[in-house]
Amino acid sequence: MKAQPIRNPKYKIKTVTDLLISTPITSYQLKKISGKDSSTSSKNYSPLDIRRVKVALNNLDEKNELNVRPPIINVRMAKGGTGKSMVSANLASAFAMLGYKVLAIDGDPQASLTNILGVDPSDENIQHIGHLMEHFEGKRTLNINEAVRPIYPDNMLDLIPADITLTQTDSWLMTRMGRDLIFDRLITNNPDFFNNYDVIVIDSAPGTTLLSYNLMAACKTILAVAWLDRESLKAMSLLFSNLLEINHVYPEKNLDVEIVANGYHPSYRHCKEALAILAESYKNAMNENVIPHYSGFVRQQSFLTEESKGPLVEQDPTSIGGRVILDLAKSLLTRYEITLLGFSENIKPLLR
Ligand SMILES: Nc1ncnc2c1ncn2[C@@H]1O[C@H](COP(=O)(O)OP(=O)(O)O)[C@@H](O)[C@H]1O
Ligand SMILES: [Mg+2]
Repeated sequence: MKAQPIRNPKYKIKTVTDLLISTPITSYQLKKISGKDSSTSSKNYSPLDIRRVKVALNNLDEKNELNVRPPIINVRMAKGGTGKSMVSANLASAFAMLGYKVLAIDGDPQASLTNILGVDPSDENIQHIGHLMEHFEGKRTLNINEAVRPIYPDNMLDLIPADITLTQTDSWLMTRMGRDLIFDRLITNNPDFFNNYDVIVIDSAPGTTLLSYNLMAACKTILAVAWLDRESLKAMSLLFSNLLEINHVYPEKNLDVEIVANGYHPSYRHCKEALAILAESYKNAMNENVIPHYSGFVRQQSFLTEESKGPLVEQDPTSIGGRVILDLAKSLLTRYEITLLGFSENIKPLLR
């Protein structure tokens, strides 16, 4: 039986026109294009509505599905607690709110992404990405749809969850030939499933494991999340040496990195210092958005007994943290060449 979507967020006209649609448009036009009659409540726009409005505004055709492999954003850092899971959950949600179809993959046995998106990792029926890789390699029937948990309706946000048993994937990978590229091949060989999405967002564990190598080797650009302190600077150089290693073994991959700084607080001197060092050392890789230290990111983490509320940007897109996440997502549309049915939204170029 197919699981029901966990939430169906809806947004006010003002949020839609200010934050989610870059083209200037009046609320009257918005209602008209999205086929809502004028009496509908103003808080009524779902991610799918936003997609439909963008499709109409840009004369796109849903039937012209591209059937190309979507860009992959693998959120990485060689250190725990830098905000990888927070960033991946919020980005996954933000892209869906912007009208893109998103597949989120939890690549960390700690299952934080799974938790934040609202799936209980202690559920016995969890099938994770390691299971899918094993079934694929063993040429067993692979029903990816059974692993997928719908978070928002209409495939706007789907999740391949994780649980603690994902730790076992590494010992299995040890025994396989060509072990670095199994995840990459899983995607390439299952276009009917993966090419339905506009973007894939992957959360990763901090360690340098065979699974984390697999997840990195499938993408073109890693998204490194740097918490603004001294340890993160060290972790960043470790991450760069991982990249060099992959590029040495697979020169054709030419793996790149985009860095986003997290946890900025204007009254902490070490934040400013760390940001200055990062900007100096990795000039060409720094994203222009800096995520502030913001309590809303902590509150989004609920205990399992509570009803799931979803990532901050979904709950409160107009908050300080929510706005930065949406700006970050918009900048990544350009950086990762994420398109809506082949169309690139005209979003301001990155300032380097
Ligand atoms: N910008 C931020 N402001 C405040 N708290 C944050 C911020 N980013 C992350 N956190 C909190 O820090 C902790 C670690 O974040 P998490 O995303 O789990 O890191 P990682 O996945 O890298 O281990 C979490 O409790 C999270 O809510
Ligand atoms: Mg994490």
